[in-house]
Amino acid sequence: MLILGIETSCDETAAAVLEDGKKILSNIVTSQIPYHAVFGGIVPEIASRKHVEFIAFVVDTALKKANISLKDIDLIAVTVGPGLIGSLIVGMTFAKAISVSLNIKIVGVNHIEGHIKAIFLEKDIDFPFVALVVSGGHTELYIVYDHTNLKFFGKTRDDAAGEAFDKVARILDFGYPGGPIIDKLTQNLPKPKLSFPIAHIPNSYDFSFSGIKTAVLRYVKKHKKEIYNLNKKIEIANAFQWAVVEVLVEKTLSLAKNENIRNIVVTGGVAANSLLRRVFLEKAKESGKNVYFPKKELCTDNAAMIAIAGYYRFLNGEKLDLEEDANPNLTLKET
Ligand code: KG4
Ligand code: ZN
Repeated sequence: MLILGIETSCDETAAAVLEDGKKILSNIVTSQIPYHAVFGGIVPEIASRKHVEFIAFVVDTALKKANISLKDIDLIAVTVGPGLIGSLIVGMTFAKAISVSLNIKIVGVNHIEGHIKAIFLEKDIDFPFVALVVSGGHTELYIVYDHTNLKFFGKTRDDAAGEAFDKVARILDFGYPGGPIIDKLTQNLPKPKLSFPIAHIPNSYDFSFSGIKTAVLRYVKKHKKEIYNLNKKIEIANAFQWAVVEVLVEKTLSLAKNENIRNIVVTGGVAANSLLRRVFLEKAKESGKNVYFPKKELCTDNAAMIAIAGYYRFLNGEKLDLEEDANPNLTLKET
C-alpha cells in the first residue's frame, strides 16, 4: 500500500511517500525559515502564501523521489490540525482535490499524533508507553495504549518549550529558530553555575515556560554590558536550556514511575535537542526505563509521520469527510 502524506500545519511544506506503513520511499520538507527569520518568528500570512507556492512542487518531488506517479497512490493522509488555519487549509485543499479527481481514499491526521507515530517509522515500541510531545507549538504528556487509544496527562499552561527556546534566542539576538542555534552553541557544555527559576506545578503533569523566558529577559536587561560578550550569552542560553530540559525529564519520568510504564517516547522538534536526549537517556537508565527518540529529521515537522499516523487511522476504518474543515485547535483528546 502506497500512502502520500501531506503536512502544512505550520511553516514547513512537506510531502512523503510511505510503503505499507513502514518504509519511507521519500520524505521532502521545504523549510520557510528564511522568509520568517527576518521577522524573528513565524508570520502566518507568509506561511500560507509560501505553502500555496510550494505545495505542488513538494508533492511532485516526493512522488518523483519515490519513483511513482499519483495514480499509484492508495491513500492520502493529510494534517487537519492543530496548526495555523491558513497553512492547514492549503494542505487539506490540495489533498482533497487529488482525492476527488483521482478517486483516492483520504484520511485526516492530528499533527500531534503524527509526532507520536514518527517513532514507528524506525522501531516497534511495545505499548503502553509515555509520550512527551515537545515542539514549537506543544508540550504535552500522554500515555499511549495502542495505535488508536491514548490518555492525556498534562500540557504547558502558557508557552511551548520550543517557543521558549525561540523567544530566548531572540532575546539573546541569536536568530530564528532558536532551538537548533542554542543546541549548537551549547554542545557538550557542563551545567553552568548560573541558573534560572523554572515553574514546577505541584500535583500536576502541566508545564509552564513563560516565567523562565521573563527571568532571562530580566537578567539580560540587568547585565546589559556583559551581553556583548558571546560567552556570556552562551552561558545564559545554557542555563536556560538546562532548566527546561530538567523539568521536561523530571515530569515525564514521574508520570512513567507513577503509572508504572516502562517505555517512553520523546518526540517533536525539541526532541532533536542534544542535551534533552543526553539527560533523558541518563535519567531513564537510572530509573530502569527505556527512552526512545525518532531520528532528528523525524522529530521536526515532516510528512512521513503524517503518512504513518494516517495508515493506522485507515486500518481503524477512518476516512476524511470532504466537508470537514481544518481545525487549528484540534486536540488529541477529540480524535
Ligand atoms: O515539531 P516542530 O518542527 O514544529 C512544531 O510542531 O512546532 O518544532 C519546531 C520547534 C521550534 O521551536 C524549534 O526551535 C525547536 O522545535 N527545535 C529545537 C531543536 N530543533 C528544533 N529545540 C531545541 N533543540 C533543537 N535541536
Ligand atoms: Zn510539529
